[in-house]
Amino acid sequence: MITAKAAAKQYRGRDNTVVHALNPLDLVIEPGDRVGIIGESGSGKSTLVRLLLGLETPSAGSIRYQDGEVSQLSGDRLRQFRRDVQLVGQDTTSSFDPLRSLRDAVRRPALEILGLTVAEADAAVDEVLASLAVDPELASRRPSQVSGGQRQRFAIARALIVSPRILICDESVSALDVSVQGAVLNEFKDFAERSGAGIVFVSHGVPATAFISDRLVVMHGGDVVEQGEVSQVVNRPKHPYTARLMGAYRKLSADESSAA
Ligand SMILES: Nc1ncnc2c1ncn2[C@@H]1O[C@H](COP(=O)(O)OP(=O)(O)O)[C@@H](O)[C@H]1O
Ligand SMILES: [Mg+2]
Repeated sequence: MITAKAAAKQYRGRDNTVVHALNPLDLVIEPGDRVGIIGESGSGKSTLVRLLLGLETPSAGSIRYQDGEVSQLSGDRLRQFRRDVQLVGQDTTSSFDPLRSLRDAVRRPALEILGLTVAEADAAVDEVLASLAVDPELASRRPSQVSGGQRQRFAIARALIVSPRILICDESVSALDVSVQGAVLNEFKDFAERSGAGIVFVSHGVPATAFISDRLVVMHGGDVVEQGEVSQVVNRPKHPYTARLMGAYRKLSADESSAA
């Protein structure tokens, strides 16, 4: 379980101005939860993700995993956290070593986090690729030698190979062709259903986030302006910002169903 308590982050901007990227936020994420974090670009979503992963330290408040402050975990507890909480980001190109094969990238967490032998890790790679319907032949290629959609599947495989209990997806489908987005979303959903893991799905796009989530957290200017069950937030928004965001989405859904 990850617990954010009054967690906030400020950055020092240009001219020494203070950027309030994230205002004090409370959030509890348990295995099995499917939480969508939605908000326009610059609303503080990725800042929250970096705090949840312990990649940055909150300026105030705390982020805990079980009973430990995430940014201060070390040794076995850090290893456990890395195993339990995995990220699939947006920019898969920069997250892969261009000179190494995709197999090498997916195998690495199995070697380093799970401590498997190379033979065991290779078997685990084959298994996770099969579960994502990825042609294992592609694994011998370099990242630049496959399509963006395939590369994203390898990024997902690299996260899933350690069987995380919480998967954090930060704009993980935003850069993909619309035709591929649905398939990748289904893979996230299948994984959650199969494993009982939690998903934190972070995106500026309402349709994908609403599809995958049970609960929505709406962010605007570093604040959580609203949170609740998906159907409530989509159909009966309380905050004017949410109403605007969801109004466009509901119109889109209605147009789609009348076009069908
Ligand atoms: N390292 C940083 N230094 C200064 N400002 C930052 C930094 N990272 C993010 N910000 C600012 O914090 C705000 C929130 O950014 P971010 O969390 O990336 O939003 P989102 O992911 O919702 O697009 C933005 O105004 C952004 O410019
Ligand atoms: Mg972001």
